[in-house]
Amino acid sequence: MAASTLIVGTQFGDEGKGKVVDLLVEHEKFDVVVRYNGGANAGHTIVSEQGTFPLHLVPSGILHPEVNNVVGAGVVIEPAGLVGELKTLRAAGIPCENLWLSDRAHLVMPWHKKLDAHLGGKIGTTARGIGPCYEDRASRRGIRLGDLVDHQGKVDKDTFSKRFREVAQEKNLVLERVYELDPVEIESNLSEILELAGEFCQMVADTSSLLDEYRKKGLTTLFEGAQGCLLDLDWGSYPYVTSSSVGIAGCYLGSGTAQNPDRCIGITKAYSTRVGEGPYPAELGDYETVKAKDQRGADGSVAQLNEEQKAKALAGDEVLMGSWLRRAGREYGTTTGRPRRTGWLDIVAVRHSIRFSGITEIAMTKLDVLADIPVLKICKGYRYQGQTLDTFPSRAHILAECEPVYEELEGFGALDHVKDPKDLPATARAYLKRVEELAGIPVSILSVGPHRAQSMFLNGN
Ligand code: IMP
Repeated sequence: MAASTLIVGTQFGDEGKGKVVDLLVEHEKFDVVVRYNGGANAGHTIVSEQGTFPLHLVPSGILHPEVNNVVGAGVVIEPAGLVGELKTLRAAGIPCENLWLSDRAHLVMPWHKKLDAHLGGKIGTTARGIGPCYEDRASRRGIRLGDLVDHQGKVDKDTFSKRFREVAQEKNLVLERVYELDPVEIESNLSEILELAGEFCQMVADTSSLLDEYRKKGLTTLFEGAQGCLLDLDWGSYPYVTSSSVGIAGCYLGSGTAQNPDRCIGITKAYSTRVGEGPYPAELGDYETVKAKDQRGADGSVAQLNEEQKAKALAGDEVLMGSWLRRAGREYGTTTGRPRRTGWLDIVAVRHSIRFSGITEIAMTKLDVLADIPVLKICKGYRYQGQTLDTFPSRAHILAECEPVYEELEGFGALDHVKDPKDLPATARAYLKRVEELAGIPVSILSVGPHRAQSMFLNGN
């Protein structure tokens, strides 16, 4: 068994990482699960006998009391959001005594959310204050968990109040004078955060040292990347990216450990999705139509396409084919409820992620969603100004003009009942084999449904 494993999405997020983490924690019995980047912009739903938990900040190992869960310094934490998750978990009988938060993690403050709501539209951010919080980290105007909780795990009212008032006053000037927004109410927000801190102050620790102790004891660690590599601040589709380092470099940076993961698994959905703005060559249909026409029902229900619509999709109607994938895959944001943009699998983009993140194997998720589509497509190159590109362009305007070059593969029927790789239809195996050839690394895990049992380990891994 590998001493440490990194899992990271190879696409634009929402690859189904939560399920794979849960599967690995169960199968490989990891002792430690670490979140190292992002914040409440991430969202995963964990389904267990104790209930269904939509989590944003708390690592996926929390339901296993024997697993240590660590939120590293690279994660940005909104106190009310964190306390909300803790309360939900505690109400379901999960005490969360196995959770540790880095004293170096930055806090998402009320002005961050306000600024993100005002400025994030161009990128289509999750409006959780993530970008402005990381901006303040870089400009050294951030407030860290260690300012709120002292080294003995007690709420540090004096240090925090001083820092909060000082930064809030400056931020209010920016809100009012630059953006003509209302200022944040300083004293009421301050008291609220000090009160919330009582719920998690005992969890604050020097998590870099903690991880080192775990390593020395021989404990095994799973590093859980949030978002997806194509949203990485430096290597994603800049500027339509998140504000943290998503890949392996983010893992070192955000967890404060130089442990080299022994395995680096790239979670890859059998098709692609994207939320928010930004270029997306393999997209089916267009985002404006999706936003206007493909919302879920008010009760969260998702209607499937009827036979007539499916026939039109198969005859070449891209909007409807995109809708087919969206509905069959229930592609609506866990954090925002937004309909996700959908498209075919883009292996050029996945290969880019594999390269910069040192990914050594693929966990392919949601292959079952492609059931009953007779001809499947994989984007294996981009046409740009008469040339075929096989790498992911750094310039957003070039990426936006790229036309996908597709390879067609024969489809397959329902897969959600398949439990053994030997029972996969030959065409599904051929699809996986082609992905392996184009990606240059093996597919070692396959998921064909939301439940843990609907997963297979391939290639003897
Ligand atoms: P931010 O991370 O909220 O600043 O948003 C920046 C971009 O990343 C937007 O396009 C978001 O939709 C996208 N994004 C952020 N987190 C996730 C995620 O967990 N899944 C998918 N997209 C995400």
